[in-house]
Amino acid sequence: MKIGILNSGGDCPGLNAVIHGVVGAAHQLGWEVIGFRDGFEGMLPPASYKVLTPRDTIGILKLGGTILGTTNKGHFAAKVGKGDIAEVPAEIVAKAKQTMEVLDISALVVVGGDGSLTTGLQLYREGWPIIGVPKTIDNDLSATAFTFGFDSAVSTVVDALDRLHTTAESHKRVMVLEVMGRHAGWIALWGGIAGGANVVLLPEIPFSFEKISSFINQRDSQGHHSTLVVVAEGATMPEGEIVTIDDNAGGEVRLGGIGDRVAARLAKTTGKETRACTLGHLQRGGAPTSIDRILGMRFGVMAVKLAQEKKFGRMVSYQAYHVDSVPIEQAVNQLRLVEPTSELVLAAKAVGICFGD
Ligand code: F6P
Repeated sequence: MKIGILNSGGDCPGLNAVIHGVVGAAHQLGWEVIGFRDGFEGMLPPASYKVLTPRDTIGILKLGGTILGTTNKGHFAAKVGKGDIAEVPAEIVAKAKQTMEVLDISALVVVGGDGSLTTGLQLYREGWPIIGVPKTIDNDLSATAFTFGFDSAVSTVVDALDRLHTTAESHKRVMVLEVMGRHAGWIALWGGIAGGANVVLLPEIPFSFEKISSFINQRDSQGHHSTLVVVAEGATMPEGEIVTIDDNAGGEVRLGGIGDRVAARLAKTTGKETRACTLGHLQRGGAPTSIDRILGMRFGVMAVKLAQEKKFGRMVSYQAYHVDSVPIEQAVNQLRLVEPTSELVLAAKAVGICFGD
């Protein structure tokens, strides 16, 4: 039996842990593992792949990125925006299918986010033996409570806030940290709470500068002269704008710049010295945390189990401390967003964090 694996979409810490899990579990069953390079692109003839043995995975658990490479563009991009689904053209699917047949692959593990799993779902509906593994640092896939990579991203945010805290205090400044999170504010919320942010701005909670300014002024009057603000890249400005870098032809619109915009407005409305810092891809790079290494490895092992049981069209899922699986279509149907009245948001408010609402 041969099992294929590919990483598709943006990279994130823990992808190599999944490969480690797949290769380890498949080897125990005597199966061969074919790793396709650069996502689905590696399946287009002449295919670009690597036979993966346990020897190839020595030491990769602690490595960020992916030894297979990945892309969030190319011939297989099924999603170009929130809810915008584009079918992968039939001639492209047919070419990749040739590779499946020539290599005699009995199961294909697709490690990807919403877009890549939408491609996976299309292929499954066309008869491919697809198994999905959820991947996104944004942690916004429904049908799984956690995705690997998220914890690593949050720890990078916390580290950045710890550093910004000391310089903000020294200068009595407002520091604005822009973090990733296109549609969901999980990274901003978790990172903000754990890193001691005073203001957290999310895509899910509309904010006003009046509210934030009076909060900062009140802090000043209480003797707290510095303020840490975390803003998710996908948060909406009060006037309704989502701040973008460019429209990224062939891919999803590139978000970015809201941190500078929020800092400029707060400087005006509070009269305080304000600086902005954008964390960007630092959140995606570097070594995975131990949680992400273990979660990634478990996801890989579960993917092989699903292949063994021929449970195709399913996605590995983490719920209530257990790794299990759900139909892929359940996972790509809707995003998992921060609920503004959830216990976590209310707990953050209870300890004095302002959401600008
Ligand atoms: O979806 C994951 C993500 O990291 C988003 O948070 C971010 O907007 C996007 O990918 C960045 O993509 P790229 O690597 O193409 O700039």
